Amino acid sequence: MQDYSLEAPSPNVSSRPYLGSGKMTNPSRNVSQILASSAILLLLASSSNAQLSWEEAYAKAGQAVSQLTLADKVNILTGQGSSSRCIGNTFAVPSINFPGFCLEDSPVGVRLASNASTFPAAMNVASTFNRTLMRQRGEAMGAEFRGKGVNVALGPMMNTMRAPAAGRNWEGFGADPFLSGEGAFETITGLQSQGVQATAKHFVNNEQEHFRTTSTSNVDDRTQHEIYTIPFLRSVQAGVAAIMCSYNQINGTYACENDKTLNGILKGEFGFQGYVMSDWGATHSTAPAVMAGLDVTMPGDLVSGTNSSFFGTTLLASVQNGTVPESRVDDMALRTLAAWFKLGQDSGYPPVNFDSHNNSAPDDQRINVQDDHKVLIREIGKASTVLLKNIAGTLPFANLKTIGIIGNGAGPSSHPLNTFVGDDGVLAMGWGSGTGTFPYLINPLDAITARAAQDGTTVTSSLSDTDLAAAAAVASGKDVALVFITADSGEGSALIEGNAGDRNDLQAWHNGDALVQQVAQFSTNTVVVVNSVGPIVVEAWIDHPNVTAVVWSGLPGQEAGNAVTDILFGAYNPSGRLPYTIGKSITDYPAQVIYTSTTPILSIPYSEGIFIDYRHFDAAGIAPRFEFGGSPRGGVAPTGPGSSLDPWLHDPVITVHFTIKNTGKVAGHEIPQLYVSLPASTNSPPRMLKGFDSVFIAPGQSQGVTIQLSRFDVATWDVVQQRWQVPAGKIGISVGASSRDIRLNGSV
Ligand SMILES: *[C@@H]1O[C@H](CO)[C@@H](O)[C@H](O)[C@H]1NC(C)=O
Ligand SMILES: *[C@@H]1O[C@H](CO)[C@@H](O)[C@H](O)[C@H]1NC(C)=O
Ligand SMILES: *[C@@H]1O[C@H](CO)[C@@H](O)[C@H](O)[C@H]1NC(C)=O
Ligand SMILES: *[C@@H]1O[C@H](CO)[C@@H](O)[C@H](O)[C@H]1NC(C)=O
Ligand SMILES: *[C@@H]1O[C@H](CO)[C@@H](O)[C@H](O)[C@H]1NC(C)=O
Ligand SMILES: *[C@@H]1O[C@H](CO)[C@@H](O)[C@H](O)[C@H]1NC(C)=O
Ligand SMILES: *[C@@H]1O[C@H](CO)[C@@H](O)[C@H](O)[C@H]1NC(C)=O
Repeated sequence: MQDYSLEAPSPNVSSRPYLGSGKMTNPSRNVSQILASSAILLLLASSSNAQLSWEEAYAKAGQAVSQLTLADKVNILTGQGSSSRCIGNTFAVPSINFPGFCLEDSPVGVRLASNASTFPAAMNVASTFNRTLMRQRGEAMGAEFRGKGVNVALGPMMNTMRAPAAGRNWEGFGADPFLSGEGAFETITGLQSQGVQATAKHFVNNEQEHFRTTSTSNVDDRTQHEIYTIPFLRSVQAGVAAIMCSYNQINGTYACENDKTLNGILKGEFGFQGYVMSDWGATHSTAPAVMAGLDVTMPGDLVSGTNSSFFGTTLLASVQNGTVPESRVDDMALRTLAAWFKLGQDSGYPPVNFDSHNNSAPDDQRINVQDDHKVLIREIGKASTVLLKNIAGTLPFANLKTIGIIGNGAGPSSHPLNTFVGDDGVLAMGWGSGTGTFPYLINPLDAITARAAQDGTTVTSSLSDTDLAAAAAVASGKDVALVFITADSGEGSALIEGNAGDRNDLQAWHNGDALVQQVAQFSTNTVVVVNSVGPIVVEAWIDHPNVTAVVWSGLPGQEAGNAVTDILFGAYNPSGRLPYTIGKSITDYPAQVIYTSTTPILSIPYSEGIFIDYRHFDAAGIAPRFEFGGSPRGGVAPTGPGSSLDPWLHDPVITVHFTIKNTGKVAGHEIPQLYVSLPASTNSPPRMLKGFDSVFIAPGQSQGVTIQLSRFDVATWDVVQQRWQVPAGKIGISVGASSRDIRLNGSV
């Protein structure tokens, strides 16, 4: 439906902040400096519950910290241990009415709580390429965390999909740093609009589950700046309260005691004002961690089940014997209390009202925080669906008398409440601490059956993945055969069907390829629905003439069945785009999970550098099966390059303006994407995403789109000068419907 034509460019001012070179703020500050400048700010801030600026919050925090004993300060920074009421809690300081924090998972909603929603995974909201939906998801999740009395939400997660099989990829926003950064920015802005502290995690280079606590990610400086830290930079720009350091080492130093990444990049270059907390058990020392920039240790135990912490009395003693200066502890407490004041949690914030260990316990009020969020969850489920194949108008369904439904992934799940088990029934999230606790889970079989009944259509099903005879029987003679296949992954702390967090390969689970092939042998109208944590290899059947449509549904959360039904029956025109590349083979990807280790600390060389995912496929000339940003909808004839683009260079920004026309017959969203090509001297990938929009257009109508670039968007990290530089030479700008379907080209 998309057709791009050109309008005259117009100059404008960038809305994205321009990042200057050099250090933004001093990584540590002391109380007297803060107090000296705080009096006026306090007057301004005291009457309002609305979110404060960091300056206003530091003014309040400075007053509070000046009243505290060393023990009080240490209590603010130390988790109570692994048996506390929330997944983590810090200690209260009654003298300043500080209740301590309740910290709770996860990036898809309040985990381990009843009557709370499970939202679509970040990977799905990324595939909407729609900032409004990203923001609304954050707002809705924020309202639920607040309603349960959670101070600190442990999300969003923004590790990059470097290795396609990595277990926690689905918790993040995909394989591109720009898209991940926008996802992080909108999610955090949404969460924090409700007064909840968001946590950007896991900082940094935590891109596989195998050996996550006994590996070092060895990453060069340019790659660190241009890929892995970009979503964290956008988090800081969103005013994120907390950043969680990760389990792994970086260049041989643990992430939670890495001076270069914490003090250097995060608090120095990015000017992060909030606090750094450890992942659960990721603290390995006291003074080295504290002096490298760690502010809060979670859950507080040294070893699970002991009362001995790297903080707590150990930190107290370290100050008393001079190993840690008290000014540093002041800075840690300032940062932590400033986050609390910034979000307005010092006034009117709901107390914790659930018990993460037992939702039936007397101290769990089972407050219903779901509101009408199921409407948004279903909307994101639809908007994130990617239609990868649709020949001869297979979809949407029309005039069907019979539907056959095949595959375990179409049916109910036997364990929707236990988040560390695996792949049975509709797959709507992965496993591990990044999950929610489903209040209910709509499966496709029920939803399709209900919708089909409206048309008098008969539905027959076989929910076995392995009974190929039953699959053939259900597929035969039906107007359409729908086959559901899945691929699951999660946190390394559970082993599911032989997969230790990371997937062992990129094949569909439960021999899904054989199931599709069997169905396609017996139905000329086979529609494949994929619920997956990331790419799967589809070569065994994608070109099969009887496979007429492929619907990529991802991990849509509690409304999974309703969302896919809306797509199949035409209630919504699918506009989702892949936030990663689907390769023809796992070996086409530039980086892989390392599954074995013969050394105490496994080295993970990030030797592919900035060439991850489509950047590698483009540079190496490898044809993907489905490209990043793509959705090759059947019947759409690409219109080839349009007239040349002549973007306006308006120092310091570039404004690109173009027009999209819906040449199809159905209203829907188009996702124009802007890619930048830097001069060859920079050794950069051929194209890098630096802008996108989601534009609703009626049939026959045109819509102007403006995308602005700052100098940062066309800069590279100069490792010698240690600053961002705009390269000399011609900068190419292309606009298209995917990373490979480019419709307009220009340069500045
Ligand atoms: C890791 O080592 C590489 C190669 O020496 C260097 O470019 C990079 O800055 C180092 N990063 C950290 C965080 O130490
Ligand atoms: C830890 O401290 C708590 C509270 O003081 C106590 O009940 C518990 O027995 C202690 N646990 C251990 C392992 O010492
Ligand atoms: C200071 O105290 C800490 C915590 O008890 C201890 O680990 C460290 O060895 C002490 N250092 C000195 C120099 O006494
Ligand atoms: C949860 O709390 C209820 C009510 O107090 C109690 O009956 C039940 O045994 C508890 N369950 C667990 C697993 O502790
Ligand atoms: C959900 O909340 C309702 C009140 O709105 C309550 O009656 C019900 O028991 C709660 N359900 C669960 C599973 O906690
Ligand atoms: C497609 O389906 C029809 C009907 O079942 C079957 O006869 C034909 O062999 C199938 N085509 C292939 C290539 O399997
Ligand atoms: C995003 O999605 C919403 C809901 O479908 C839609 O109204 C809007 O036009 C889309 N685009 C943007 C930029 O919000």
